[in-house]
Amino acid sequence: MLLLSPRSALVSVYCPQIFLLLSSGSYLALSSVVALGANIICNKIPGLAPRQRAICQSRPDAIIVIGEGAQMGINECQYQFRFGRWNCSALGEKTVFGQELRVGSREAAFTYAITAAGVAHAVTAACSQGNLSNCGCDREKQGYYNQAEGWKWGGCSADVRYGIDFSRRFVDAREIKKNARRLMNLHNNEAGRKVLEDRMQLECKCHGVSGSCTTKTCWTTLPKFREVGHLLKEKYNAAVQVEVVRASRLRQPTFLRIKQLRSYQKPMETDLVYIEKSPNYCEEDAATGSVGTQGRLCNRTSPGADGCDTMCCGRGYNTHQYTKVWQCNCKFHWCCFVKCNTCSERTEVFTCK
Ligand SMILES: *[C@@H]1O[C@H](CO)[C@@H](O)[C@H](O)[C@H]1NC(C)=O
Ligand SMILES: *[C@@H]1O[C@H](CO)[C@@H](O)[C@H](O)[C@H]1NC(C)=O
Ligand SMILES: *[C@@H]1O[C@H](CO)[C@@H](O)[C@H](O)[C@H]1NC(C)=O
Repeated sequence: MLLLSPRSALVSVYCPQIFLLLSSGSYLALSSVVALGANIICNKIPGLAPRQRAICQSRPDAIIVIGEGAQMGINECQYQFRFGRWNCSALGEKTVFGQELRVGSREAAFTYAITAAGVAHAVTAACSQGNLSNCGCDREKQGYYNQAEGWKWGGCSADVRYGIDFSRRFVDAREIKKNARRLMNLHNNEAGRKVLEDRMQLECKCHGVSGSCTTKTCWTTLPKFREVGHLLKEKYNAAVQVEVVRASRLRQPTFLRIKQLRSYQKPMETDLVYIEKSPNYCEEDAATGSVGTQGRLCNRTSPGADGCDTMCCGRGYNTHQYTKVWQCNCKFHWCCFVKCNTCSERTEVFTCK
């Protein structure tokens, strides 16, 4: 994946497709461009921000990893929102959703945060495994002794600062318009990376005869990306509405503050922030990037977001009946065959009208 701008920002060299993350926050997938070398991709892709093009050309090995990281972010987004009206649908699909996430909503906030975190995670992991040139394990820790706690840094500590810095340089480079969305996007990118950084874990191992811990070595490891996804989903639920404050002389958006009467507070570093209310995602609407919920599976008895009432926005649902058939009560007979019964069950599924 490469990041493009101003029209587009991310291209994933991910078999068998390439994903472009457009600067509006949408993804454009081009099929079978995989055969092209990174150099050709870097040169041919329109709209790559100059800084991104330079990184693309000087670090073609990183481009693949960046693509994998963004893909991981998209997959996690779809997992976290699988029961929602908005299900991250436009991300990573083979169609162009030019309008997707044009609205500076909390959904847009989530996609920026998870993508930036995904890129940082993937780059850090690749460094630890020796898959990227110019990086490896965290050398600042290597060999040092932690006096206070009585253990030594050993093994391979994941160099998350390198991954985060790489994500910052590459993912943030597409924000070239000096508008409110830029501030919002940059804040959410940073929030995603900070959540990742805060979840770095310490793993230790004892050495000595029969488990005695005469010496202990420790190293930092990356959290599972699922954990980052859960945390960012919680941040999404508690997302903060902000407004831009413009510097008085040039009237340029300068910083964000919490939108509240008489509030002069800035959002916290790990808050997800949005500047516009979300559409309800009930109907298809190109202007907001909503694909609507028609045809979505829903659960007739669930009181939650996947319940048919909520999911279908009151339009009602269709019932589909089918019979599930499988082999059951299998017994082993001497010698040597297995005999099974056939079981069946009538099942219903519901889809939104
Ligand atoms: C590192 O490279 C190996 C071999 O190509 C691959 O199997 C592994 O998934 C890569 N790891 C990361 C984190 O990219
Ligand atoms: C999201 O919902 C759309 C329809 O609203 C559906 O076509 C798509 O398959 C869903 N995507 C995922 C990942 O569930
Ligand atoms: C539907 O929702 C109910 C209540 O939340 C739950 O017990 C049930 O397992 C769900 N059914 C399916 C098919 O997911």
